[in-house]
Amino acid sequence: MAYASETDAARALASRVVAAIAQKPELVLALPTGRTPLPLYRELVRLHQERQVSFAKVHTFNLDEFRGLAPDDPGSFRAYMERHFFSKVDVQPERIHFLSGQAEDAGEECERYEGELAQVGGIDLAILGIGSNGHIAFNEPAEKLLPRTHLTKLSRETREANAGLFGGDAVRVPLEAYTMGMETILGAREVALMATGAKKAEILARALEAEITERVPASLLQRHPCLSVYADEAAAAKLKRAR
Ligand code: GLP
Repeated sequence: MAYASETDAARALASRVVAAIAQKPELVLALPTGRTPLPLYRELVRLHQERQVSFAKVHTFNLDEFRGLAPDDPGSFRAYMERHFFSKVDVQPERIHFLSGQAEDAGEECERYEGELAQVGGIDLAILGIGSNGHIAFNEPAEKLLPRTHLTKLSRETREANAGLFGGDAVRVPLEAYTMGMETILGAREVALMATGAKKAEILARALEAEITERVPASLLQRHPCLSVYADEAAAAKLKRAR
């Protein structure tokens, strides 16, 4: 669905989140970082302040985290989430699930995360952004994607796109990151894909309306039986089918 503005898209998705929590207070959410979800977090915080939603029983699982960063490193996704969401709502610390950038054993860390997810019954609603190269979380375009949570090398393009968290300096962006795999994400009962701004128009059309290929990880979302798209008009401009 194309909305007039990114604020409208964020409001629509926030309403969906609120309705899903009303139906299941212990909802399991997968959450993204980046520029795109900022209006969504602002809207959810506003709704929480107006007492329209409580996150007290909700479980959150962030999609990804840079390797090597402490949770309080201002460049980490954990710090981003604290700044924009966790510190402003009533989500319980023990229900916040995050990949640890400082884990000693990468394999064990990925297994721990998958295990925690399984223990709460899997993802109810996965909220996603899309990278301009078609990545989802940190599943970069590949010949063969790794299906489950794993450690990955970041492309130059992706490190440049994330430079904002590191004072605009792409060299400071870690070389590796942990990410949920595409199968983990596609296991969600419902998927909401956010895309805003003209820079996402080309890739959104390739993801939703061209062939399904691991070279465009977001195209795998076409296979999901319950996918909703929250795009503004600028990002939806190259879609042939109205959504
Ligand atoms: C980052 C994140 C993704 C995010 C994407 C788009 O690299 N790992 O989860 O969706 O890039 O970011 P933005 O919303 O800033 O365009």
